[in-house]
Parts: sequence; C-alpha cells; structure tokens
Amino acid sequence: MKKSLISSLMVATLAPAAVLLTPAGTASAAGTRYEAENATLSQAAVASNHLGYSGTGFVDYTNISGGYVQWAVNAATAGSATLTFRYANGTTTDRPMSVSVNGTVVSASKSFPGTGSWDTWVSTSITVPLNAGANTVRATATTANGGPNTDYLEVSSGTSTGPGAMAAAPYEYLGWGSPQKPTDVMAATGVKWFTLAFILSDGTCNPKWDGSRALTGGSDEAAIKSIRAAGGDIVISVGGWSGNKLGEKCTSASALAGAYQKVINAYGLKALDIDIEDTEFSNATVRQRVVDALKIVKTNNPGIVTYVTMGTTPTGPDATGKDLINRGAAAGLANDGWIIMPFDFGGHSGTMGQATVSAMEGLKAAVKSAYGYSDDAAYRHIGVSSMNGITDEPGETVTTGDFNTILGYAKQHHIARFAFWSVNRDRPCGSGTDADACSGIAQNAYDFTKIVVQYQG
Ligand code: GCU
Repeated sequence: MKKSLISSLMVATLAPAAVLLTPAGTASAAGTRYEAENATLSQAAVASNHLGYSGTGFVDYTNISGGYVQWAVNAATAGSATLTFRYANGTTTDRPMSVSVNGTVVSASKSFPGTGSWDTWVSTSITVPLNAGANTVRATATTANGGPNTDYLEVSSGTSTGPGAMAAAPYEYLGWGSPQKPTDVMAATGVKWFTLAFILSDGTCNPKWDGSRALTGGSDEAAIKSIRAAGGDIVISVGGWSGNKLGEKCTSASALAGAYQKVINAYGLKALDIDIEDTEFSNATVRQRVVDALKIVKTNNPGIVTYVTMGTTPTGPDATGKDLINRGAAAGLANDGWIIMPFDFGGHSGTMGQATVSAMEGLKAAVKSAYGYSDDAAYRHIGVSSMNGITDEPGETVTTGDFNTILGYAKQHHIARFAFWSVNRDRPCGSGTDADACSGIAQNAYDFTKIVVQYQG
C-alpha cells in the first residue's frame, strides 16, 4: 500500500440486547444504558468533578455504608441478563457493594476494586435473572468508605446475536482530508460509531493524534464529545501506514501497554483498534510486543473490545499475518476481532466484493486454526475494513455493489466488524482528485457509509 492513500484501517464483539424495552435507557453497544445520575439515590449525590463519565455526570456515594443507587430497568421477556456497572475508584481499597434485583440480593459483596484514579472508569459485570416488564436493580455500599463513583448500569439480555452498532464504525481522520463534521455524518447516515484515526508516536513512547496533536484539550477531544453527546461513540485506531509507530518507539510490551492506556484513559474508551502496518507488521519482535501489550490492556480494562487490523492477500492473511494471529493465540490474547484490509492486492480474480469474501474465508480459517474456535466463533472474531472507490492499485476500484456483497457476508456470519477507509473519502471528487478527501468514482455523499451502517451485528 502506498503512503498517499492508505493510512488505513479496521472489528468486534458484544451483542445487542434483542429483548429489552427501555423507556428510561438508551441503546448502547452492549445493550441498554441507564445513567446513574438519572437513578434513585440514597446517601449519594450526582457529581461531575472528574473526567470521562458518560451522560451528564456520575454518582458519588457518600463515604458511608448503606448508601445506594437504584435503577428502574425494563425487560421485554423474563430471563438471564448481564448487568454491567461502569465505575471509578481512585483509592487502592476495594469498595464492595451488595447488588439486589427486585429486592433479592444477587451478590452480597460484589467487588469494585481500585481503578488507579478517579478519572479511570472500568466496567464490571454480573449475570442476574430479570422479570418481564419492570425491575429494580439496587447497588448498596457495604463499607464505611461507601461505594465507588458510579457512571452507569448497562443491561443486556443473555443471548448474544452479534456485536451491535459498534460493528459498523467507518474510519474518519480529523487531522487532514477535509473531514466532515462527525455529527453531520451521523445525521445524514444514521451511523453511531466512528473509528478515529490515527494515534501515532510523538517520536517517543507517547501517543498523540497523527503524532503531534495532544489527546485532550483540542479539537479531537471536542469532536469526540460531540459524537457522544449525539448518542454515538468511538473506536480509536492506533497505527496506520505512515508515521512513527508506538509499537516500535515503545521498546517493551509494558511500555507499549502504557501508551495504549493513555489513549484509553483520555476518553474512557470501549474499543481500541491497532492498525498494524509496514515496519510494525514486518518485524516479528514488534508483532510479539503488540500482542503482549494488548494482553496487558485486556487484563487492566475488563470488557474493552480490541481489534487488530492488517493487510491481506485475496485468499487471506499472508505468512506474516498468520504469524501475528498465531502469536495472539499462543499468548492467550482474547482479541475480539482480527480485521483485514482486502485491497491493494496487486492482482485478484473476480470483483473486489468476491475477492473480499475469499480473503475473509482465508482469515476465518487462520483464526479458527490458531484459536481452535468453532466455525461460528471464528466468524465472530473476524472483520473487514474495506476502502471505497479507487485504491492504490488500478483495477481494484471498490464499488457500492462490492460493499453490498460484503454486507451480505457480514450479516450471514455475524462478523465482528465492518469498517472502511474512509468517511473523508465517502463523497465525489470536485475539480481535483484529492484521494484523501474523495472516492475518485461517481457517487453521492455517504453512499458507502449508508451501506455499512446497515450492518448491526
Ligand atoms: C474523592 C473524589 C470523589 C470520591 C471520593 C470518595 O473526594 O474526588 O469523587 O467520591 O473521593 O472517596 O468516595
């Protein structure tokens, strides 16, 4: 792939709650979200004096045993559901709480250990039975320290069908390529999730947008807040073809995990994409470092979704890509999505849609064999990040017809992710042909995003 076009790209997991009715909650990737600040509180207060919460604030339990947050939760059908609490505990002491559902204690002492800082939010889950219709979920502090700061409760039904809205997260890059306002894209297409690109090294083992813009305090953070305020969310992509790569500038897995963690903490991220390309991909030591760093990230951020995105041949990952997947399996990395970029092949047969399906089947076989998954589980751990319009290779133009082929494949197999490079390019070219800001083919604005958003897992 040439630098000019491809900085590239792209997968996923959790399932939407098919059966939850949620007058008081809002749909989220993992189910239905009920903000703590909208719940019933006792010996607890709404606060907003820390970073990274969702909604308009969080609940600060007073430092006393017995304070609680009680949520009203609706379920369409009776059965098992997963309750996920997002919380921060800036101390090093566990703040266990008693969790009850409809007045019955389901966990007398659920652990809410320290998260490192009051700005660091993590998720912890339990599975509980819910009644059809109205339910109450109460989390009561059981020690004199009180409960942790609590951001929200997310409820998902026990049955997973696919990864949900998070799976349709096209790339947009805000630092170049005449970016559209993300909220305009949301309004025009219905897309809720973006993959924002790229985080790079600033020359040291420190993450910055495009290697130069600070994580917080600037236009990138403002854009992310605007997306979230409009009901959307973001995956952040680290890497791409160009620039200094964190996997190389950080010289140990723990240092690299620390750099990733800065990005996660800056935004309370739910999903991280490592777009591993060029020299980061070709060096076995660096591949291993990326795998080991992601494993640390998975341990320290329960519930975070991770994707690893790489180039491919028309029949699936090459030997280097397979080696990367095998290293992931050998390390026990529970990666949510192995993603390929099926273009810039330099030779393929059939349409680009057919070549993509063939590459995905090769990827699925590689992931299945490395992890020992069933066919179904293997499909749920792979994904695709295509490219709309012209690519770097003549003869590899990707059309809306090709995207519809990919959409059919995604729906059939419940793949983890359907993304593409890029929203910036999802419009016709004007008088120029700036490959970073338009597709190079005849199209209407957002034709490709409108196909991708039809995939909801
Ligand atoms: C700090 C922190 C609060 C937190 C409190 C606690 O004061 O700023 O957000 O709730 O500690 O110990 O609970």
